[in-house]
Amino acid sequence: MAATNYTSNNNKEKIIKRLDWIRQDFTLTPAIFKAIVEGFKQECDQGLNTASASGLATMIPSYVTRLPTGHETGIYLALDLGGSTLRVCAVQLLGQGQVNVTEVRRSITDQLRTSSTIVFFDWIADTVAELYALLPNQHVARDNDASPPPQLAMGVSWSFPLDQTGISKGTILRMGKGFTVTDGIDGQDLATFFLEAFQRKNIPVVVTAIVNDTIGALVAHAYSNPQARVGFIYGTGVNAAYPEKVSRIIKLNVAEWQDTATEMLVNTEIDIFGNESYLPLTRFDRALDASHAQPGFQPYEKMMSGAYLGELVRLVAVDLVNDRELFDGHVPYLLAQPWSFLTAHMSEIEGYSSDDHQLVVSRVTELLQFADNYTPTEADIDVFLDICVMVSTRAAGLAAAALVAIIEQQSFKPDQDIVVGVNGTTFEMYPGMPQRIHRALEQWFGESIAKRIKLEVARDGGSIGAALVAMLYQEG
Ligand code: GLC
Repeated sequence: MAATNYTSNNNKEKIIKRLDWIRQDFTLTPAIFKAIVEGFKQECDQGLNTASASGLATMIPSYVTRLPTGHETGIYLALDLGGSTLRVCAVQLLGQGQVNVTEVRRSITDQLRTSSTIVFFDWIADTVAELYALLPNQHVARDNDASPPPQLAMGVSWSFPLDQTGISKGTILRMGKGFTVTDGIDGQDLATFFLEAFQRKNIPVVVTAIVNDTIGALVAHAYSNPQARVGFIYGTGVNAAYPEKVSRIIKLNVAEWQDTATEMLVNTEIDIFGNESYLPLTRFDRALDASHAQPGFQPYEKMMSGAYLGELVRLVAVDLVNDRELFDGHVPYLLAQPWSFLTAHMSEIEGYSSDDHQLVVSRVTELLQFADNYTPTEADIDVFLDICVMVSTRAAGLAAAALVAIIEQQSFKPDQDIVVGVNGTTFEMYPGMPQRIHRALEQWFGESIAKRIKLEVARDGGSIGAALVAMLYQEG
């Protein structure tokens, strides 16, 4: 597997220097990290004080004012719509933080993402009908005021911004994640779409709770660990939720709520946060944004979530290839098209790194696919690996910055664990991601506080959380 292309020492030094130069722009120095945390905190305060703007909103009240204890039991329906998957479930709460889930899962095709609202919600309703057919109905909790035929209560976890106006009501905000439903979905009531689709298909199911997936993750994690105080999603997208004091949620009618609750879970929509004044955007971030269908939207998320990391690596690598500094000017097949190199590829590549180095080089070479029998040098593959590590390490730091801001919004007793329920493939699957995030938290908080911060996986958070909220708010 000897390199057929000769790379002179000169060239090697040149590319290492060039990459060091780029790396400076991708490095979150303590000062930059601090500026991001402060920027996030400021945006949290602004969001709590400002009524939702049309099309965009942050710090969205969820109307969920209590968390489960872990002792709840019963079976509830849940629907979890993410960027790539629809899951419809019957969640059996067994008490002691245990659950049993029966689910029907479908991938969301590009065709569906860009279809009409009727086609999209009919497809959802068909999936619900499939689950319904599997249910022994008598086991499922029924909606209190259902008139015959009895309706089954369902909680919905919605992984997109929603301007919530009640526990089961909310206006759809700009969706992201490739959803450009043709007849305009923004500004419409989400519950109505479900209601009408279930009616069209004669499905006796009624949506009694709608939560953002971060709220779902927090509620679901609180069921297994009642100390949970942050819900964090880090997958295709990113977002966080936490319980905020009602008295600080100025955009809510505080007087109306203050007597009934002290805290309410808030969906930060931190993905939308950020601007040039504190986010260290590189020219690659700008190029990515410019090539995106929704430029300017979700600047923070575009720097660090699973939908984007692969493309950032591709942009950096192609820049070096075009200057004939990497791969001797050969663009490998996997990097040739925009958005063709995925975060899953990076994750696979970083996963190789613990193996024998020669094997890593040949596996990466094989994965990238070069034409014309070109074989890159080992040094070139190392540079490519470095680019992956550079982009994913910055992502971990950016994830940590959001967590710092959300943790510092709250007060914890000195001996209290700070429990974060996390859901999402980038956190769960990317090699070393939880450790890198934790390391960045430790750099900020110091060892003794960092030891109390537990990043715990809130598996199936969306569906379990939605079912739990349907349960909590059905019973009273
Ligand atoms: C996106 C959505 C947000 C969701 C997050 C995680 O950023 O805007 O609502 O919570 O992804 O799935």
